[in-house]
Amino acid sequence: MDTTALMAPFTERYGESPEPPRLFFAPGRINLIGGHTDYSGGLVLPCAVRLGTYVAARRRADRQLHFASLDDELTCDVSLDEPFEPRGSAWVDFPLGVADQLLRRGVDLPGMELLFAGDLPREAGLSSSASLELAAAVAMNTLAGADLAMDELVRLAHAAENEFVGLQCGIMDQFAAGFGREGCALLLNCSTLQQRQVPLPLSGHRLIIADTGKARELASSKYNERVEEVREVELALIGVLEAPSLSRLTPGRLAENLERIPTETLRRRARHVVSENSRVMQAVQALMAADLPAFGALMFASHESLSRDYEVSCAELDTLVEAARAAEGVLGSRMMGGGFGGCTISLVREDAAETFMRDAGEAFRAAFGRDAVFHPAETGDGAREIER
Ligand code: GLA
Repeated sequence: MDTTALMAPFTERYGESPEPPRLFFAPGRINLIGGHTDYSGGLVLPCAVRLGTYVAARRRADRQLHFASLDDELTCDVSLDEPFEPRGSAWVDFPLGVADQLLRRGVDLPGMELLFAGDLPREAGLSSSASLELAAAVAMNTLAGADLAMDELVRLAHAAENEFVGLQCGIMDQFAAGFGREGCALLLNCSTLQQRQVPLPLSGHRLIIADTGKARELASSKYNERVEEVREVELALIGVLEAPSLSRLTPGRLAENLERIPTETLRRRARHVVSENSRVMQAVQALMAADLPAFGALMFASHESLSRDYEVSCAELDTLVEAARAAEGVLGSRMMGGGFGGCTISLVREDAAETFMRDAGEAFRAAFGRDAVFHPAETGDGAREIER
């Protein structure tokens, strides 16, 4: 996005002032592997992308907070001296939730005016919400002179989404938006929050996003249902788990204790989480050995497990992954994000990318009578101020 495009609308909305606005950015993310493991303390391997949310921001002399966006008509004006109320399914709840968390942590927020604009496709599962939260967090932290470290901002953005917006998401998206690095994937242990950058040896290959365009109406209720199911499994395994987290279990320990889990459905949910964690470990080894075929095979296995055992895929995602399997030069492909719509990520040989997009596009159109949208994904850096 051309960031100068934010400046004229900023002045138009908020007026001239001797203090020019400062500009901040936070990216969206892709997740290479480690699906639905973060909320049980498992392993994930996301990357930040180049697309994301920009925000121009300036202090005010009074105690008002103003939020507006170039992408949505809804605006928000609140006083820092009154408690904040969520608006319900509105974009402004994300920055408002972040402001609420900063105040709860004792940050002395000044009055501020912020104008947001993003270039991430919305509802595509690239985590535009974490990108919005981190952009708001970095901007408000800087304008307040609060100097909170990035891991604190990541945690408070996650708390804003869980407590203020009311979505029980895991912490992967906020970490990727905060700490992503160009050319790397971020290995995160969601129990200990230890992280490590893993360089991506992609030479001659591309990551390609395929967006089903399917509205994810059921996504948050089904997502919360899976979170509950994992909690049920953890309850059934009390005494077996050293820590109350399913992701601490090895496949062998799960097999020994499978009969403690009361239903076949819950056993399948557990099998996904435990096997996905070992796939992430193997995937990191494959990257370190620059063995992309092995990495791709793990992506396919991850999709299979998410679709069959965890049941968070849908016909549209399965069709795209099947088309990827059938295509020449595609090493791996899987659904990404919460599921029930959104997009897939595929690892494709550069010289095979055009044919893959054409053939998978045709298979999708034949099945659903509309087009999937393909975008090459470029990795990028995490949340930051942009010098103008
Ligand atoms: C959504 C959530 C993440 C994660 C993924 C599934 O994107 O926001 O926390 O649980 O789904 O891997």
